[in-house]
Amino acid sequence: MVGICEELGIEVTKHSVSRFADGEIFVQIDESVRGDDVFIVQSTNPPAENILELLLLADAARRASAARITAVIPYFGYARQDRKDKPRVPISAKLMAKLMESAGFDRILTVDLHADQIQGFFDIPVDNLYATPIFKKYLLSEFPMGLNPEEWIIVSPDVGGIKRARTIAEKLWNLPIALIDKRRPKPNVAEVVRVIGDVKGKNVLLIDDIIDTATTISNAAYALREEGANRIIIMATHGLFSGNAIEKLENCPCERVVVTNTVNHNFDLPGKFVVLDISQLLAEAIRRIHRGGSVSQLFL
Ligand code: R5P
Repeated sequence: MVGICEELGIEVTKHSVSRFADGEIFVQIDESVRGDDVFIVQSTNPPAENILELLLLADAARRASAARITAVIPYFGYARQDRKDKPRVPISAKLMAKLMESAGFDRILTVDLHADQIQGFFDIPVDNLYATPIFKKYLLSEFPMGLNPEEWIIVSPDVGGIKRARTIAEKLWNLPIALIDKRRPKPNVAEVVRVIGDVKGKNVLLIDDIIDTATTISNAAYALREEGANRIIIMATHGLFSGNAIEKLENCPCERVVVTNTVNHNFDLPGKFVVLDISQLLAEAIRRIHRGGSVSQLFL
């Protein structure tokens, strides 16, 4: 949040977040926001307190007569639970949307939403930014001539990510794409991981939106190496790094893991990891929303 404010040349509005003795959250905005265009920045990854703080601050801003309240959610947690695909499960992403609207948000600004159609859970405007320009800038700093489509290929680590991989490939020098197909032939039989596409002798950008336990992406890296892939660079927008994800990524056959800072960590990452700053992109989107400018131009 500090990075966004620095980009915008403004101060973070004074506010306090504290606890009652039993752990209940208490928030207060410590200066007037009457008539203001308010942006509340919070990713909604666990702990659940992150979501509650976001909702409570929106309620506080609404009751303090803010003119408009936007939730800036760099990582939209619960987005993976976007359908009822088993009996008796919630559609958590939809519930989050309802909670945010009820709390008083007028619009949402987020980055690489797990599925575009989650926007339909909201009846308020949602701007979903893509981190691709940030990854492209990073790649250009490492490979000033860009990536040659004869040498490099983009791989999605699962079938669900193929649309994302295709969209990113168009923006990254029209690189060809391949994907990993994971199948469990029978219950309790080990998963078969198959590479669809020719990666032999190719350099790979292995791309996903989220790295959680790193199981998906590290298994994909092993499968690619087995199929004869050469250099492997992992890129994902949201690095959650749960459990022993860091260890898995350290050990798997990739030379680098590139993520953005949509999720903050209070631990140091090993040298193989690169964390790209998303604040400039968010600041520019906030500036445009405030002035009524086009946000879609940031997608180019
Ligand atoms: C799944 O649909 C997502 O795009 C990611 O592939 C998934 O969340 C990664 O999870 P994990 O790192 O735990 O395998």
